[in-house]
Amino acid sequence: MQEDIREVLLSQEAIREKVQELGQKLTQDYRDLNPLCICVLKGAFPFMSDLVRFMDIHLETDFMAVSSYGDSTQSSGVVRIVKDLDASVEGRHVLVVEDIIDSGLTLSYLLELLRGRNAASVKVVTLLDKPARRTTGLKPDYSGFEVPDAFVVGYGLDYAEKYRNLPYIGVLKEEVYSD
Ligand code: XMP
Ligand code: MG
Repeated sequence: MQEDIREVLLSQEAIREKVQELGQKLTQDYRDLNPLCICVLKGAFPFMSDLVRFMDIHLETDFMAVSSYGDSTQSSGVVRIVKDLDASVEGRHVLVVEDIIDSGLTLSYLLELLRGRNAASVKVVTLLDKPARRTTGLKPDYSGFEVPDAFVVGYGLDYAEKYRNLPYIGVLKEEVYSD
């Protein structure tokens, strides 16, 4: 698998350090709020798993899977809920945990949905931010790294469902796409 990677963008150590930093910040900001951390599947699963272990407060976890209508490289902003939350968000302090914000269309839809369900607050933590591609005014409340406008894989991020288990974040070799 690793032979398909052209360049490592973020090493395992760099990711771990950043996730710890975010976890400590969230520990301060969410003290006594018993936040509901919502993992947006599938891409955010390693990030969520590591992040909550750096949050030294009571919290709850839930999982949601969405898929965007439209072609595979461009999200359309019309989102289908593939798996909804198990519990109600009413009155809860919700923290949406994302792998990457690209256009921001998927997340805008999700935020509107959660606010419409009367959460007490809804904030976003993303590991990666690709601001060059943003078509919405959306800004994450907490963000790990800004990445350039390249397709990245690893640490949850996939190409055709592969590479999610790569322990770092990298860029694929051209020939992998063209094969
Ligand atoms: P939008 O455009 O709605 O889309 O912000 C966000 C979702 O698009 C996927 N995405 C990527 N997945 N490498 C990936 O593996 C990337 O570079 C990339 N850019 C966007 C991802 O599922 C994200 O949640
Ligand atoms: Mg995602």
